[in-house]
Amino acid sequence: MSKPRVFVTQPIPEIGVQMLKEYFDVSQNTTDRVLSRSQLKKAIRGVDAVLSLLTDHIDDEMISAAGSQLKIIANYAVGFENIDVEAAKKRKIIVTNTPGVLTEAVAEHTMALMISVARRIVESDTYMRSGKYTHWQANLLLGVELQGKTLGIIGLGRIGSRVAQIAQKGFGMTVIYTDVKRNSQFEHEFKSKYFRLNKLLATADIVSLHVPLLPTTRHLINAKNIKSMKRTAILINTSRGPVIDEKSLVRALQRQQITGAGLDVFEYEPRPIAGMESLSNLVATPHIASATIEARTAMAKIAAENITDVLSGKKPLNPVY
Ligand code: GLV
Ligand code: GLV
Repeated sequence: MSKPRVFVTQPIPEIGVQMLKEYFDVSQNTTDRVLSRSQLKKAIRGVDAVLSLLTDHIDDEMISAAGSQLKIIANYAVGFENIDVEAAKKRKIIVTNTPGVLTEAVAEHTMALMISVARRIVESDTYMRSGKYTHWQANLLLGVELQGKTLGIIGLGRIGSRVAQIAQKGFGMTVIYTDVKRNSQFEHEFKSKYFRLNKLLATADIVSLHVPLLPTTRHLINAKNIKSMKRTAILINTSRGPVIDEKSLVRALQRQQITGAGLDVFEYEPRPIAGMESLSNLVATPHIASATIEARTAMAKIAAENITDVLSGKKPLNPVY
């Protein structure tokens, strides 16, 4: 019998591909370009498994183009809004993600953005490089401290909880949160209070987003509720770009309606919207929160394991439904 076929849509850490090659007939897009729709359709025709990335838009038509032998779509990410899960479910195709192993990387990057904005690290770097530093001054590039400030976590999943823990235990911040459900154990352990979204936005000094992208979280942060934030507030987003109405945020930053923002994700990725490039109170990174050697290696292994499990008739570790 011929080996089951697996298609990997882009380069990933080699360990994942090697694990798959042990059992399967693996083909891969080894260029760093995202395949066009027609290229992807052609590449996945007849395969048993697809290892996909966030840049692959896998909808009903794409799934159907693969053929009825397709058994699993293993997304190399914790988020999976690039896949039409309902369409997969209808055809009994399993969809998996890579939760857990990137929690630390994303939480640490969230803190990096927080500190970068609070202490104006990027502005300071630009200042140094452009030769503007002439002498020590008492008021040069003043920022704010995290200690004693209130951090508002929106979305208390694995990542949100880990950020809360680092912020509270490491930086002495007070943590408040909002989520679709309350977590009394968390409230007890972190002396944390649950707030409704608008109250949280009005209370927090720093707001950090950790929700998945869903119809209910699209533009969760918008022109209207940005107005309820403090003028001194900092907004951090390492979740998904469309959770923020980016145009309204840029406007708020231009008018200094809030103090600053740290963004790793953007509404119209990969392009930041007009106006962003000139904001000195914005720190932007190109969706790299999970980009550590540790996390990305573990994600490759988990995605490969999910495929191996499903193609050998076992339940995978990380089904999304
Ligand atoms: C990255 O954004 C992920 O969802 O893993
Ligand atoms: C994702 O890993 C989350 O639960 O926050």
